[in-house]
Amino acid sequence: MSSDGSLLTPVCLVTGASSGIGAELARVFAAEGHRVVLTARHEHALNTVADGIAVSGAPRPQVIAADLAAADGIERLARALAAAGLEPAYLVNNAGFGLVGDAALIDRNEQLRIVDLNNRALTDLTLRFLDSITRHKGGILNVASIAAFLPGPGMAVYHASKAYVLSLSEALHEELKEDGVRVCALCPGPSPATSFFRRAGLPADYFPAVLMRDAASIARAGYDGFMGGHRVVVPGKPSRIVTLLPRLLPRWLVRGFGGWRWRRKRRALM
Ligand SMILES: NC(=O)c1ccc[n+]([C@@H]2O[C@H](COP(=O)([O-])OP(=O)(O)OC[C@H]3O[C@@H](n4cnc5c(N)ncnc54)[C@H](OP(=O)(O)O)[C@@H]3O)[C@@H](O)[C@H]2O)c1
Repeated sequence: MSSDGSLLTPVCLVTGASSGIGAELARVFAAEGHRVVLTARHEHALNTVADGIAVSGAPRPQVIAADLAAADGIERLARALAAAGLEPAYLVNNAGFGLVGDAALIDRNEQLRIVDLNNRALTDLTLRFLDSITRHKGGILNVASIAAFLPGPGMAVYHASKAYVLSLSEALHEELKEDGVRVCALCPGPSPATSFFRRAGLPADYFPAVLMRDAASIARAGYDGFMGGHRVVVPGKPSRIVTLLPRLLPRWLVRGFGGWRWRRKRRALM
């Protein structure tokens, strides 16, 4: 029985933990003493991450394979957690993806899947587990992006999806802080060594090199900022400047620059 009388064991649930930033976040949470549960679609990759965490000396994380963009994916994940006697005290909403191209040309269902995963699944998990997170005075770390701060011609749905994540996180931060619950949006700049670039169709040099950071340092900055009670964490000074400019400059200029850049990039991608 946990300290608050619940029969379920409190855990940190990390989505998108089979690779990239999510796998690194799982490693950091485990190293900091949290009991971690890993979820993503690919069970084999999840088990590889779990084995690595066990080798490092932390308890081996539980692995639950689920497609969070599928209609029944979250329900199945929640049932598997409860059946294992576990409930989230911490939730790391990291699973997400983007696609590059004109919105009119990218497959509509693929673009809707961005919303299903980046927004619908993140919101469902957040609302579904708010009760246990609040009881344990835990928290929610949502992985957004520097894309959250500006409209993104060429990645329109992705940028909009991350703006939603940032807005939701900031509002929940305010709503829940008096209950002792942390809510933080981690907003990384580009990290081309993860699978994100490949799935999005982005070449490795799509963004300026000065913005690039490795997934491990993003995860460490995210964990420290989250535990430190920060509302938003943007790892790296160059990325922080990118997020500051859209708040200082007029919207028409930010939007116009994005459109101009996309028209140049689009030619290079074709
Ligand atoms: N890399 C970057 O440049 C960058 C920059 C800013 C923000 N981000 C954000 O960081 C987060 C992690 O991205 P990453 O760079 O680490 O990319 P990644 O290596 O592609 O990781 C994405 C994770 O999400 C999981 N996932 C994808 N579709 C899923 C689905 N339908 N159901 C459940 N899990 C699913 C993937 O695992 P499976 O394939 O096994 O399902 C994987 O574990 C994303 O939210 C992304 O938007 C990335």
